[in-house]
Amino acid sequence: MTTHFSALRGKNVILGVTGSIACYKAVDIASKLVQAGAVVDTVMTRSAQQFVSSLTFRSLTHRSVVTDLFDAESDDAVEHVALALRADVVLIAPATANVIAKIANGFADDALTAVVLATNAPVLLAPAMEGRMWANAAMRQNVSTLESRGFSFIGPAEGRLASGEMGRGRLEETSTVLNALYEAIGGGSAGDLAGMHVVVSAGGTQEPIDPVRIITNRSSGKQGYAIAEAARDRGARVTLVTAPTALTDPDLIEVVKVGSARDMLASVESALRAGADALVMAAAVADWEPASAAGQKMKKTWETRMTLELTKTPDILATVRELPGVKVGFAAETEDLLGNAKEKLSRKGLDLIVANDVSATDAGFNVDNNRVVILDRDGAQEELPLMSKRDVADRILDRVRGIVDARR
Ligand code: PMT
Repeated sequence: MTTHFSALRGKNVILGVTGSIACYKAVDIASKLVQAGAVVDTVMTRSAQQFVSSLTFRSLTHRSVVTDLFDAESDDAVEHVALALRADVVLIAPATANVIAKIANGFADDALTAVVLATNAPVLLAPAMEGRMWANAAMRQNVSTLESRGFSFIGPAEGRLASGEMGRGRLEETSTVLNALYEAIGGGSAGDLAGMHVVVSAGGTQEPIDPVRIITNRSSGKQGYAIAEAARDRGARVTLVTAPTALTDPDLIEVVKVGSARDMLASVESALRAGADALVMAAAVADWEPASAAGQKMKKTWETRMTLELTKTPDILATVRELPGVKVGFAAETEDLLGNAKEKLSRKGLDLIVANDVSATDAGFNVDNNRVVILDRDGAQEELPLMSKRDVADRILDRVRGIVDARR
């Protein structure tokens, strides 16, 4: 996670780590929390130290790790109480059956259970265990006891377990755990887009010629991903509908992967029908698709030339124009930038269009910067100098915010 979420920055997170093979994921969680600006205090049970050393967490968090209730090393005799009092949230990941049972019964015979008993902060548990253990009646009772006291569970997920069997007991993915933590500390309430659901499309759609070949374009997805991350960091709930890219799925964002323009239309339309507040179409959507994709790889039986019949793809923005939500399009042009952008703004019934000259070498496709002009329905034009795609994203979202406010 390369950005700092306003809600996590400076927050005191107690990361409880217990003795499961899934401990290795706790290292990734700790790393991403620190990257997001959180102050992470790790509390490990004795069995956790069989799987991963406290030095690993100390190196990542740059803070001492509590491993024992009577930890002579710590400079605070009752370290667990100090931790409990300053915690904004407690996350136990992985949470074993044993620690869940101990917490459900009020035990405090180690540093972690003592912290949990002493804190008033929200406690989230991300279980990891064999499926049969998770299904056990005693476990069911412990979980419902804790839920009745306001504890939250993240997962566990379905999948292959340490025993090799398939079942429900896997520690959830890091992004799912982080998302739940972010929500628990009011992530969604920080930032000027808090409470909004923003849908962003990104990347170049892929129109199949046959099972092997596609028609696509030069979009890397960088501009769309930057808009999605900026919206997330300003507190919005974000759905990113993306064609294939080489970019890493951003954390704390619902990523919907699509291939063709038709697939993208389906996902965009469903998000808008579900009540999204805004759509930003940064994706490079194919205007044409092969009239019929071959079922098998086409053989080189033809002479030196071959004709491919193309038909128009559905215009996504035009199709969803009557659905609620602020609509922002992009215009990728190589000539008459403003004239072509104005025509699309009107034809597609948009609130804003972001015009960019994609013949430029320092802006547009695949580079980290962009040079855009933002046009609105009233004919106003906001010409922006070359800047990072993230800064372009924030300028677009500023305008979206303004439109949403004006409509309230
Ligand atoms: O992804 P990057 O490498 O960062 O590059 C960024 C970008 C250049 C791709 C981006 O800034 C950009 O210009 N995206 C829009 C590309 C595009 O398809 O523009 P267009 O002028 O062909 O389409 C106009 C608008 O209609 C776009 O918002 C597009 O998403 C949308 N569209 C297009 C075709 C279609 N069938 N349905 C649509 O909704």
